[in-house]
Amino acid sequence: MTSPSQHLLVTGGAGFIGSNFIRFVMEQRPGLQITNLDALTYAGNPANLADIESDERYQFVHADVRDRDAVSDVLRNCDAVVHFAAESHVDRSIHDSGPFLSTNVIGTQVLLDACRDAGNINRFVQVGTDEVYGSLPLDCPDLAFTESTPVQPNSPYASSKAAADLLALSYHHTFDMPVMVTRCSNNFGPYQYPEKVIPLFVTNLLDGRKVPLYGDGLNVRDWLHVTDHCEAVLAVLESGRPGQVYNIGGNNEQSNRELTHMILELMGCGRDMIEQVADRPGHDRRYAIDARRIRDELGWSPSRSQWPDALEETIQWYRENEDWWRPLKANAFNATMLTSKSGGDS
Ligand code: NAD
Ligand code: DAU
Repeated sequence: MTSPSQHLLVTGGAGFIGSNFIRFVMEQRPGLQITNLDALTYAGNPANLADIESDERYQFVHADVRDRDAVSDVLRNCDAVVHFAAESHVDRSIHDSGPFLSTNVIGTQVLLDACRDAGNINRFVQVGTDEVYGSLPLDCPDLAFTESTPVQPNSPYASSKAAADLLALSYHHTFDMPVMVTRCSNNFGPYQYPEKVIPLFVTNLLDGRKVPLYGDGLNVRDWLHVTDHCEAVLAVLESGRPGQVYNIGGNNEQSNRELTHMILELMGCGRDMIEQVADRPGHDRRYAIDARRIRDELGWSPSRSQWPDALEETIQWYRENEDWWRPLKANAFNATMLTSKSGGDS
């Protein structure tokens, strides 16, 4: 298929999803140039793209999305933007919301202004999250978020992402910018920072350590393989309707307890490796995505997220890539330590 873009700017491309997206797009669209603008926060890791760093079609720019001059400079050569750069970990946002407001809201505003003023950006994808819709009750299994579900974010992270989405849509409405917003469920796969539940649990078990399960473990998430997400974002970039929101989901709801039991089983560990710990404050109970719009309009549906195979393959990746995750564990956010330090263990 012909891409509407010749030179794509990806922000946050040194993180988990951004790096998987760049690798996926370089395989799928060999004619495309990609510039990756990333501030290399704790979550940004050049090692995520070590295999393509010398590819002529790829360029890395070490800069912050809040730096207007740097962003405008990079945009001169680009014609489309996929905006992943964000602070992304909910527990960190509960500990300190400052960086979330600054990067996720102000960073998005700076980027949108720079794109509007550049005048050469014909596609802009704001990568968002299902967390903006808030929480569903456990006793209504038929309920799912649609694109017209009102946003009702509950964590500082989700609130900052909701603000960014709304800002991006307002630039479509006000300045006629070709903005599309995606809202995706929980991703899993290679290169995920080992503070998110799946890589945290897998790497703990590889080290013979217990896994900290929050609260009663009944909270439900809808798990999607990162490559399915990348394919959906590419479809929206190329064929999405400006001004539109697209939900993306795996149709793969699991309670955290079910997820934990499956990881333990796949890794040959017993349930005695579970450590029941204090719940996350304000912990959303259930997310569920109705992804009919992207399926019906753009023909996308997940094809790589089937459990337990996809989970087993992911576990295997962490088994084989200790050199990648071991140095990162030291900086991984540890919510358990935080609650026991502050004495809040209820
Ligand atoms: P991540 O934390 O792994 O990576 C974020 C990247 O953004 C890092 O490379 C970091 O260095 C970069 N970054 C942070 N602040 C920056 C700044 N000020 N300027 C430039 N770069 C900056 O995140 P992820 O899990 O890959 O998520 C990527 C995007 O997808 C985020 O917008 C997130 O909200 C969204 N999302 C994530 C999930 C998920 O399950 N992980 C699901 C839905 C949506
Ligand atoms: O839904 C999409 C969102 O998914 C993205 O927007 C976020 O960027 C991404 O981090 C993710 O948010 P979650 O909060 O759902 O992911 P996390 O991996 O932190 O937690 C998943 C579930 O596991 C959640 O219900 C909390 C629970 N959990 C998490 C950790 C880190 C535990 O029980 N123990 C833990 O140690």
